[in-house]
Amino acid sequence: MRILVTGGCGFIGSGFVRLALARGAEVVNLDKLTYAGNPANVAEVADHPGYRFVRADIADAEAVREAIEGVDAVVNLAAESHVDRSIMDPAEFIRTDVVGTAVLLAAAREAGVRRFVQVSTDEVYGSIGEGAFRESDPVNPSSPYSASKAGGDLQVLAWHRTYGLDAVITRGSNTYGPRQYPEKLIPLFVTNALDGEPLPVYGDGLQVRDWLHVDDHCEGIWAVMERGRAGEVYNLGGGHEETNLSVTRRILELTGRDESLIRHVADRPGHDRRYALDTAKARGLGWAPRRGFGEGLAETVEWYRAHRDWWEPIKSGAYRAYYEAQYGGR
Ligand code: NAD
Ligand code: TYD
Repeated sequence: MRILVTGGCGFIGSGFVRLALARGAEVVNLDKLTYAGNPANVAEVADHPGYRFVRADIADAEAVREAIEGVDAVVNLAAESHVDRSIMDPAEFIRTDVVGTAVLLAAAREAGVRRFVQVSTDEVYGSIGEGAFRESDPVNPSSPYSASKAGGDLQVLAWHRTYGLDAVITRGSNTYGPRQYPEKLIPLFVTNALDGEPLPVYGDGLQVRDWLHVDDHCEGIWAVMERGRAGEVYNLGGGHEETNLSVTRRILELTGRDESLIRHVADRPGHDRRYALDTAKARGLGWAPRRGFGEGLAETVEWYRAHRDWWEPIKSGAYRAYYEAQYGGR
């Protein structure tokens, strides 16, 4: 089987590329290499005979048409993926997450691709006070990021209904693990704590996220790609809910720092209070998250401790300007 993986130089995409190659698939990795794309994430497979890299934009119809030739399945992981950046500047999110998805769908239909997998997020459902979202719940996004992802999802479903495209959607919860760009909560706080820098907790820090290890997320995408029913959505949740403050305290303990590093800063506008997913449908495909959060987080902290060569170059240059714009006045 040949798979076109988009965004394969990112955090989850690089995990999926490694998984697909290990399972014997051929992989074409199409990635624009934005600030979040890092060839080092796939360096160990760069010379694999079943691997090919194409530097291109998913919104570039011509480049996508070329890359998709002879492909059996498309797994779309390319996205602008950070909520805080979407609040500062939503335009790129619409271009990649909405328009880019539409370009990929059109190319997949034209090329007769057998399966299209859209990798989406629990954030499209919005916030939930009690209970857990099911796939039949309506989308109700709060941020420009989640609205863009919802826009992508709705097109995927429409392409299935209108053109009969064989398409499935995964909605994963907050994901953590090695190789995550240090702008999201866990890698930002781990690297700041390792450097003895403050940890900016938004508002009261009592917002709840459901944490999923990147390996479990990739296995879930694989299961849905292989066994999901066309036209269906599958929630992939870690089943581990925790407040941001509690995660922060774990990170301080694992890095040998104390609570004096915690800074409560101005809250994120439109901040979703809690995410939670009902994962019965994906479990029905034989998938279940396997990694415990305590063990997974400890191993992630060790990875960042051992791989300063991966994140120190990232946290300089343009990143400093982003950090100042995001946190300077907070
Ligand atoms: P990431 O930001 O680490 O990586 C995104 C990748 O996409 C990068 O390699 C980037 O270069 C590439 N890319 C961006 N725009 C592109 C474009 N126009 N054309 C081609 N490539 C482009 O993201 P991630 O955290 O690995 O997330 C991957 C997917 O999973 C996204 O679709 C995201 O919405 C979804 N998701 C992420 C999480 C999470 O917690 N990280 C949770 C649920 C779902
Ligand atoms: P994030 O990792 O950005 O993921 P998402 O917004 O997609 O859930 O944030 C996770 C939670 O952590 C969210 O409630 C916002 C909060 N957060 C902070 O408190 N401080 C920070 O510096 C960041 C990046 C996030």
